[in-house]
Amino acid sequence: MRLDIVSIFPEYFAPLDVSLIGKARERGTLDVRVHQLRDWAHDVHRTVDDTPYGGGPGMVMKPEVWGEAIDTVCGTAVGAVAGTAAGGGSPRMIVPTPSGRPFSQELAQELAEEPWLLFACGRYEGIDSRVMEEYSSRLRVDEVSIGDYVLAGGEVAVLVMVEAIGRLLPGVLGNAQSAVDDSFAPGSMRNLVEGPVYTKPPVWRGHEVPAVLLSGHHGNVARWRRDEAIRRTVRNRPELAAELDPETLDKRDRKLLEELSFRVGQKDVAN
Ligand code: ADE
Repeated sequence: MRLDIVSIFPEYFAPLDVSLIGKARERGTLDVRVHQLRDWAHDVHRTVDDTPYGGGPGMVMKPEVWGEAIDTVCGTAVGAVAGTAAGGGSPRMIVPTPSGRPFSQELAQELAEEPWLLFACGRYEGIDSRVMEEYSSRLRVDEVSIGDYVLAGGEVAVLVMVEAIGRLLPGVLGNAQSAVDDSFAPGSMRNLVEGPVYTKPPVWRGHEVPAVLLSGHHGNVARWRRDEAIRRTVRNRPELAAELDPETLDKRDRKLLEELSFRVGQKDVAN
């Protein structure tokens, strides 16, 4: 997969050299190219922003600079050699912004199947909206939010998305089952977060590992894990628990939910 990232702070992306993503880059599974947006600004100060039309606080990123940057990265800039883009195709463009569609495991999976992604990191009040309008006619453009809080810019959001997407690429995780078992991954544990995990020693500062995990009984272990996932989802994510599909619940699930005084399908959850 090819990933292009355009930002005025390329230094933010140093973490992409380490750990799983760094290894995937070394192996060639991921081809990450980070670009300095100011390289496409032509005045002495390499200006990338200007005051907003209509007034208001802050600054807005200039469309001309972004247009040149994106055209160049896509290989469609005036004077570009035809066919310089990856496989002659074009990237799917992701613009991180708190006003975008929510990023989720499902979207991460969808993006992990793309051959080429282009992340356009906005700063200040964001990028002139005509940039998204212009490229929407040529590329698939998604404005994406990683959560209901406001960051200083899109860089950290891109790091989050690249890690979530990168670990889903074939061969990136040491154990492919890890991605299958994830909270939010599709499957029977869908809409359940993962329960607690333990390793050796069996007793630490007087705290014991639950005996069932030492029993070697796979069926009981699986059942215990599911119970704990349900308990934790009800406690920490009642809105997710309320969305559990009754069709996916067995008798024991229903009994546990009853013990927890939790009714699936209830919208106003006061747990
Ligand atoms: N830029 C600023 N805040 C953001 C958020 N929550 N998600 C994505 N990009 C952002």
